[in-house]
Amino acid sequence: MTMDLGQGFDVAGYLTKEISKIKKIIGDKRALCALSGGVDSAVAAVLVNQAIGEQLVCMYVDHGLMRQGETEEIKTTFKDNFGLNLILVDAKKRFLGKLKGIIDPEKKRKIIGEEFIRVFEEEAEKLGKIDYLVQGTILSDVIESGKEGRLAVKSHHNVGGLPEDVDFILVEPLRELTKDEVRLVGKELGLPDEIVWRQPFPGPGLGVRIIGEVTEEKLTILRHADFIFRDEIKKAGLEGQIWQYFAVLPTIKSVGMKNNQRTYAYPIILRAVSSVDAMTAQMVKIPWEILEQISDRILREIDQVNRVAYDLSSKPPGTIEWE
Ligand code: XMP
Repeated sequence: MTMDLGQGFDVAGYLTKEISKIKKIIGDKRALCALSGGVDSAVAAVLVNQAIGEQLVCMYVDHGLMRQGETEEIKTTFKDNFGLNLILVDAKKRFLGKLKGIIDPEKKRKIIGEEFIRVFEEEAEKLGKIDYLVQGTILSDVIESGKEGRLAVKSHHNVGGLPEDVDFILVEPLRELTKDEVRLVGKELGLPDEIVWRQPFPGPGLGVRIIGEVTEEKLTILRHADFIFRDEIKKAGLEGQIWQYFAVLPTIKSVGMKNNQRTYAYPIILRAVSSVDAMTAQMVKIPWEILEQISDRILREIDQVNRVAYDLSSKPPGTIEWE
């Protein structure tokens, strides 16, 4: 089926052309792809899989900083439903060990990024010689990273950003596409809405949404609060309407009362923003009743939380993430 959005982008035509191009380039060789759960790498992987099938090996490194249910979703979608040759690497303990005692946000990012590369390289080595590396680079990445002589807007701290000296030939089938076009390609390939419309999620994951040291306990609390937030937004039918929304766990405690007992527990901060390009953002006015419902559930379901706060800041002067 041809989908012409009126902007002249012929999805079906693009797919046919790209698949035959990839077949020709890769031939009977093998390719490797790092899946992150994000829409770009997902679309790139499924597209290349259509071209070369089993010759494509996908790798998903679980750093333990994903949201609730995401790793299972990735396995079900890509391995079970799409039949991708997917290796799931459980590196949760390794990442948590490296993050022990680290509170500086940039240090956390660096550690997570470097550890990702290390795990990826170690696992890739076990697979023997692979010539090609598939990456979900899209047009805005090309522009932002200043490749091809264009202006660099910001540097990316992306997990999945592999070292420049890797011994692979890069295959980047989405390089010329905008995010909207990538989503259309994803839909045409049959990817579920949860992936096609996934909100932006930072490579270092919940690691930069826990202010201060990342621990197993805090991850469990934050994952639960974030799930409640997303679940209630979905029930309210607002899922596709808010650019980015998530929970933050600051490492402070305050006094409260639960079941007539004094508590000394964490607050959860809710953040929701609208944006076009993430360079600036405005806080979203989620209806009060929905916020109340989210807060009630968080306070009822999570013992270690006794307050919920809503972030009213725009970017600038805030940033979207808290770290
Ligand atoms: P800030 O917090 O800088 O975020 O306003 C802008 C957008 O970028 C995402 N973000 C990241 N994405 N690695 C990523 O891949 C990172 O380290 C990172 N930090 C922020 C953030 O979620 C928002 O969409």
